[in-house]
Amino acid sequence: MSQLYLGVGVARSVLNLLRNRRSIRIFRPSEVSEDVLRLIIEAGVRAPTYLQSYTIIQVKDEGKREKLAKLCNEKIVRGASAILLICADLYRTRIMLDMLGHEHILRSDKHPVESILAVFDAALMVENMVIAAEALGLGSVILDCPLIECRRFSELFELPRGVSPLILLCIGERGEIPPLRPRLPIDQILHVDRYGEVSEERLKEYLEELERHMEVENYVRKYAGMDMRYLEYLRLKTELTNESKKVNDEILKFLKENLIKT
Ligand SMILES: Cc1cc2nc3c(=O)[nH]c(=O)nc-3n(C[C@H](O)[C@H](O)[C@H](O)COP(=O)(O)O)c2cc1C
Repeated sequence: MSQLYLGVGVARSVLNLLRNRRSIRIFRPSEVSEDVLRLIIEAGVRAPTYLQSYTIIQVKDEGKREKLAKLCNEKIVRGASAILLICADLYRTRIMLDMLGHEHILRSDKHPVESILAVFDAALMVENMVIAAEALGLGSVILDCPLIECRRFSELFELPRGVSPLILLCIGERGEIPPLRPRLPIDQILHVDRYGEVSEERLKEYLEELERHMEVENYVRKYAGMDMRYLEYLRLKTELTNESKKVNDEILKFLKENLIKT
């Protein structure tokens, strides 16, 4: 065993944190101190990374918070003690590469690797922050409204060209202890040596479990204030409509200007 092995106790604690984490959408009124937030952010930036092509904007201004509440889930945004906007940032990376004085990839209009890895970098950083918050006794949830409303977020936070808003990380003291939510069975995710078979039977079992679980949790009513079963809600959220096509066209246009060069 490695000499650096931290011991059974620490390993168990870390695994327990990972296995028991759930998204928290109801927060108790409380403050997250700047010191605690700093610890969380420092844990975030320790995540493995390619070029650290991400930026965090801490939202402190009340007026901006109010605007966020209108663009995102109002209850969550109003309840959270700390709100971090996470962006993919090829603007700063470009400046940094310019400093190396060579003809670099971000000067081209084709950089799919840098684009995708910027999102990957940001996601790993966010997950580290989520786990750090858990370790500090706090709850958190990720919201995707910055991506959906990218143009408005870009204006509100004065993002330069090359910076794309991705998600909000909302952190605070837990005001609920929801149950662990279902996941796809491992045998549908893990394959060995070659891509295996996707079993519709196993997926059906999973969807049934999800429906049962969300009904018991009262998920749709509690968080979306709607009176429908979960799979109906999922259909609604993922439905291809003229409206969703329009929104996606807008998002793609923004991302082509700021992030994705393929
Ligand atoms: C990229 C991403 C975007 C998400 N966006 C939202 C969101 O807009 N609203 C929300 O309530 N939860 C959001 N979530 C949280 C997921 O809904 C949640 O992780 C999932 O339902 C599983 O629940 P759990 O985290 O409690 O296991 C998001 C999660 C991720 C990773």
